Amino acid sequence: MDITKSRSLRGEIQIPGDKSISHRGIMLGALARGTTKITNFLQGADCLSTIRCFRQMGIEVENSCKEVLVHGKGLHGLSAPQQILDAGNSGTTVRLLSGILAAQNFSSTITGDASIQKRPMKRVMDPLTQMGACIESQNQNGCAPLNIRGTQLKGIHYQSPVSSAQVKSCVLLAGLYADQKTSVTEPTVSRDHSERMLSYLGAEVTVQGTTVAIEPEPELNARDIQVPGDISSAAYFIAAGLLVPGSQILIKNVGINPTRSGILKVCRAMGADIQYLNEKSGCWEPSADLLVTYSPLKGTVIEGDIIPTLIDELPIIAVMAAFAQGETIIRNAEELRVKESDRIQTVTDNLSAMGADITAAPDGMSIRGGQPLTGASIRTCKDHRIAMSFAVAGMAAEGVTSLDDAQCVEISYPQFFDDLQRLS
Ligand code: S3P
Repeated sequence: MDITKSRSLRGEIQIPGDKSISHRGIMLGALARGTTKITNFLQGADCLSTIRCFRQMGIEVENSCKEVLVHGKGLHGLSAPQQILDAGNSGTTVRLLSGILAAQNFSSTITGDASIQKRPMKRVMDPLTQMGACIESQNQNGCAPLNIRGTQLKGIHYQSPVSSAQVKSCVLLAGLYADQKTSVTEPTVSRDHSERMLSYLGAEVTVQGTTVAIEPEPELNARDIQVPGDISSAAYFIAAGLLVPGSQILIKNVGINPTRSGILKVCRAMGADIQYLNEKSGCWEPSADLLVTYSPLKGTVIEGDIIPTLIDELPIIAVMAAFAQGETIIRNAEELRVKESDRIQTVTDNLSAMGADITAAPDGMSIRGGQPLTGASIRTCKDHRIAMSFAVAGMAAEGVTSLDDAQCVEISYPQFFDDLQRLS
């Protein structure tokens, strides 16, 4: 797909539902008793993979696109899948589901596409093994396919070496089935959607600083779930509005959970004009409309505790930094190396190809912004966030930017290019 310099972007946009919350809605809906109605569910390939896995375990899921009905069967209502569970490209599906599968009274195998089969799963195998789980990597390389033989789990305290909501959530979901309380401490707080949704459905979850604990065997009660717009998807429109001169975009109903919204703080530090309108605390996840107005940006430093709150937004933040005046430094973000692609490498290679002055570090990047960027051939590495970040870069650069694979946006935002076009 070819992208050229855009004229100013104006208008209103409704962002599709949050990916993390949509996954959790299916998973917890399946484990709850009764029917969970999910509105604004993200119809992206990753969340559809989660639906497919639960259908394979006997859960009826009605997906009319407008809303999703999950007919939960309770904590012990899943049945043995007849085939290998296929998580597609979705790390969230493999890691969270592993915690559930480890506690069932059946054996299963879960895997995914070529990218998933290279991503580290030892990070969930370690705590689950400590809980007494029988989980092994089929190829003995710490990656999927994972063979899991369900068993009675023990409650543990787990000190996680990484700030990862997927690891934390895997342990908490396993903890639902453990013989006693389970807790997880992480270096800094990662997204807390699992904690919020578990509490909302009736589980006993307590949070103290960077530690979350869960009591076993609650009765989870089905309740309606309204999914706010995904701030990770809104990020591309925030960036486009800030970078393309003359733009003003109203982005409706964006989830602004503080464990997810680090990008808004960074934008503010870079000098962005973003107004919050119509703020709602919601019954469990806060949201707001964001009015984004074109702003000249300046460089900033992004490091420490804020990193997990914007981890998926770092590629588009790096793009903004390339157009900002001065230097931007990103540190403590080594997790970027094990995402859908090595995002430090893919961002550095592609921004360099467009003429940016950027240096990769083991745990981040430094970008000396303000050089004029020109279109280039972009290698997305089939990574949805790289494709969307460089589509935005192309709209603010001179010349033609070509994405080698634009289709991968279907992972988290199938109508991304249509929405982008509607505003320009
Ligand atoms: C996610 C957590 C993050 C994030 C991913 C979704 C989740 O991954 O990058 O896109 O839904 O829990 P990590 O837990 O590996 O940081």
